[in-house]
Amino acid sequence: MVRGVPIAQFDFSSGMLTGPVIGRTSKTLGEMTWAWRDRTALTALDPATIVYSVEYWKPVEEGRTGGLFMGTTAIEPGRVGSEYFMTQGHFHVLRDRPEFYLTVAGEGGLILMDEAGTRWEQMTPGSLHYIPGGVAHRVANTGNARFVILACWPSDAGHDYDPIRQTGFGARLLDVNGKPALVPER
Ligand SMILES: [Fe+2]
Repeated sequence: MVRGVPIAQFDFSSGMLTGPVIGRTSKTLGEMTWAWRDRTALTALDPATIVYSVEYWKPVEEGRTGGLFMGTTAIEPGRVGSEYFMTQGHFHVLRDRPEFYLTVAGEGGLILMDEAGTRWEQMTPGSLHYIPGGVAHRVANTGNARFVILACWPSDAGHDYDPIRQTGFGARLLDVNGKPALVPER
């Protein structure tokens, strides 16, 4: 029996995925202007600035039930005013679908929102986070270096950004006197 070789590789030092099956995308400040609290601070920043980059492996078709996807998200260090660079955040289209996040490098916060309210968990290298179904999730880079996480989610989960675009997260992770604090939306 011939043993195959893996077609994807994960680099523990950089958090990057490599291989012919890996897809890549990134998000700039200009592509998520709606997300930030301090619009005045936003206008002083270059809209082409990359906020985060995503690499993913989708071994089965998007939307198919029964598969798993894996991806890494690297959030650059930076702030818009006192708000840390962060992902847009989303619910899953199929609301009962969960997700795992594993912190690879850097430090950050996992912001979670459901009917019970908004809360956050500190993320440090090696910390493992389970996001139950029905909970919106967003990650922010609270450190001075690249913040990298590894994620694994069901292939039929989907991403629903609309509720976040329309009503936000209820609270924001801000730098308050040099430390991250969850501040309720004004
Ligand atoms: Fe997700």
